[in-house]
Amino acid sequence: MAQTNLSQTSMGHREGFGSTLGVIAATLGSAVGLGNIWKFPYVTGENGGAAFILIYLLFASLIGLPVMISEFIMGRRSNAASVGAFKRLAPGTPWFLTGISGVIVAFLIMSYYTSVAGWVYAYIFKAMSGGLLTTDPKVSEQAFTGFISGVWSPLIWQWIVLLVTGAIILAGVKKGIERITKMLLPVLFLLLIVCVIRAVTLPGASEGIAFLFKPDFSKITGATILAAMGLAFFKLSVGMGVMTTYGSYIGKSESLFSTGVKVMLADTCVSMLAGLAIFPAVFAFGFTPDKGASLLFMTIPMVFNSMPFGGFFLTIFFILASIAATGAMISLFNTPVAYLNEELGWSRKSATVVTGLMMALIGSTATLSNSILANFKLFGMTMFDLFGYATDNIMMPLTGLIIALFVGWRLSKYDVADELSNGGSLNNRTFVKFYLIAVRFVAPAAIIVVLLSGLGFFQFLK
Ligand code: PFF
Repeated sequence: MAQTNLSQTSMGHREGFGSTLGVIAATLGSAVGLGNIWKFPYVTGENGGAAFILIYLLFASLIGLPVMISEFIMGRRSNAASVGAFKRLAPGTPWFLTGISGVIVAFLIMSYYTSVAGWVYAYIFKAMSGGLLTTDPKVSEQAFTGFISGVWSPLIWQWIVLLVTGAIILAGVKKGIERITKMLLPVLFLLLIVCVIRAVTLPGASEGIAFLFKPDFSKITGATILAAMGLAFFKLSVGMGVMTTYGSYIGKSESLFSTGVKVMLADTCVSMLAGLAIFPAVFAFGFTPDKGASLLFMTIPMVFNSMPFGGFFLTIFFILASIAATGAMISLFNTPVAYLNEELGWSRKSATVVTGLMMALIGSTATLSNSILANFKLFGMTMFDLFGYATDNIMMPLTGLIIALFVGWRLSKYDVADELSNGGSLNNRTFVKFYLIAVRFVAPAAIIVVLLSGLGFFQFLK
């Protein structure tokens, strides 16, 4: 969802988030998005359900959270965005290249994220026009595949998404968006709960609930574990420096640890609600959970259509999903823009326009993966799948690994402890110890093992 304070003030000093709630809202604004509503359910569906979720939770706490806190530390300590933070904390060294790799990752994620966000935007209008009013799974599936396999319509929606996000970045809408986010996040939450209540009371829902809560570890492979780790990076928006930039806006009296924990818990809640809204419906309507990227678009319309005022609620659902997606995209789009602006001295306007045009160009290859580029494959994947796979499963973990090593080993322990305890004013020494163990040993070791085994360098699972 939305966020604030992405640029420096005209006075040259950085603005900060206004309040503790503002910090959480803004950070959650980046974290909560299509990752929760679209990606989490479909990747869980493809990887067997509950056992995958347990592994995901393990990675979110052992890797995602420490890396998020490390990014906060870097940002607040240096008072700079992702690339600048490395330059200030380790001047004259090549560490800043990690920041640049984060910029590239953000760009590549945007290339396919805008495509999916385009589908979500389009579904608002389809829902409004009554075009999705069916409870027949075949019609629902056909409506979606028919739409995305077109050429112009999905492309134009992707461009609209880029225009909207670019315009928000340019306008630098700050306080307004922060206020709207604080109001809309609870509404999204409530609507998801309505959805969950309907979904779990559908006849035949129990199979879906069991799928989400009864782990079957026989489905777990090295590739599944890699997907769970990638999802943790993606959903928490870590491993590319977005949270470093946010850290630089966090006030000196906020606790970085409790901010990270709250964001992780809230993000997990939204994902679980999305799962509970979708999987009971998957089984009740006779879909299979491994339908991939189309899962959300086929099941959610049917859940709403099987209740009173379904068309109305469906429209609201997609409006909220669009807002959530846009908030996440602002943080992604802003990453290359901030780099070009703050590090290379471009004006914010040229940086935004050039970044947007490049995203439209590269992003169109993802969108057209469902039509004219369906047979164009690199490493056996369409461009849509390749962007997702490479960023989730290779680039974010690698960048996250280097961030963990940087904060764990390059920064001094005393600086890290000082930043985490707000100059000694927070009484959290035990936590600092745990954090240091996680960031120096646990997270790097886990990332290396999962990455190497997931990519097939060695096998400890089938
Ligand atoms: N966390 C966002 C989501 O779940 O939709 C996606 C995202 C935003 C990933 C920002 C990475 C990022 F830096």
